[in-house]
Amino acid sequence: MSETASANGRGTPSADTALPADTSGIAPGAQSAAQPDKPNSPNGQSAVPGAPASAPPAVALESATLGFGDRILWRELDLSVARGEFIAVLGPNGSGKTSLLRVLLGQLGLSAGRARIGGASPRAGHPDIGYIPQQRTIDAGVQLRGTDLVGLGVDGHRWGLGLGGRAERRRKVAAAIADVGAEKFARAPLESMSGGEQQRLRVAQALVGDPAVLLCDEPLLSLDLASQQLVSGLIDRRRRDHGTAVLFVTHEINPILPLVDRVLYLVDGKFRIGTPDEVMTSAVLSELYQTDVDVLRVRGRLVVVGTGDTMDALGTAGAHCHGDPGTPHTPDPAGTDPGRQPRQAYT
Ligand SMILES: Nc1ncnc2c1ncn2[C@@H]1O[C@H](COP(=O)(O)OP(=O)(O)OP(=O)(O)O)[C@@H](O)[C@H]1O
Ligand SMILES: [Mg+2]
Repeated sequence: MSETASANGRGTPSADTALPADTSGIAPGAQSAAQPDKPNSPNGQSAVPGAPASAPPAVALESATLGFGDRILWRELDLSVARGEFIAVLGPNGSGKTSLLRVLLGQLGLSAGRARIGGASPRAGHPDIGYIPQQRTIDAGVQLRGTDLVGLGVDGHRWGLGLGGRAERRRKVAAAIADVGAEKFARAPLESMSGGEQQRLRVAQALVGDPAVLLCDEPLLSLDLASQQLVSGLIDRRRRDHGTAVLFVTHEINPILPLVDRVLYLVDGKFRIGTPDEVMTSAVLSELYQTDVDVLRVRGRLVVVGTGDTMDALGTAGAHCHGDPGTPHTPDPAGTDPGRQPRQAYT
């Protein structure tokens, strides 16, 4: 199911955000039904073994609005994320994806509404949150090894400062590094590593504290296909085995499409929430972007085609690419509309 809201301040579907025909029956405020093989359940309560039935959602946003000055990034956002649920957060550059994560990290306050992590207010340094930040290159001269970076993700209070605590900490760091297959380079200085190697260690850092909520900001950036699969597989295993809820910001949905329970799509103050099949349609994206957008399915992959100025709305320099990075631009893959001159198609 899907939700919609607009920047018009009413917080309900309006003429300019009315649900298109192919999503009729999707009620605002409703949560998506879980896919049958996924650990979440339709009512937002966890289906993960061992989770108390009455447990609060892992993440909740209630009528949440975020703006800076006159600019509203998103308005009246309602989202309840169950334990173990995998949410892809999509949207063009500047739509407020990173800002959403920063709200949940307690780094940014909402303009209105409420955010909850496991039923409590977000706060900086929350031990239940693992965070993979949007990629930054490591400054030259920073003398941090991979093992040091992963160690920063360990909450020292959990194991105390005694010998046993330190040994446990070392064991956890080594296990997290092994999980991401980074043993061979983890002791090297970060500045000497490739972007992909650094990214594996960021994943290890985010997971080493055994988080209940994992916030990932474009974690597949600069990873080759094998590493993308490895990293997304690790995150998927984590949420299935431990019930970790995942908010995964990405411009490339195809590498994670089989894992995604629901998509949160942010565009210009408006948003949609629903399963990939519900949100990733020509009608929904055209309505969100207020211009023609074609969503095609090619060999099980999603291809988003913009035309003319649409590309600017979709993001620049291929940033809004629902496909693998590095794939050459192709002409209209469906070849169904000769009258159109798509600038780019992403596969
Ligand atoms: N503290 C702040 N004060 C003022 N404006 C801000 C602040 N933080 C973010 N913004 C603005 O809010 C907008 C959304 O930023 P954000 O980083 O959330 O976008 P994004 O969706 O993550 O984009 P990208 O895909 O490029 O990473 C940007 O225009 C940014 O400049
Ligand atoms: Mg961002």
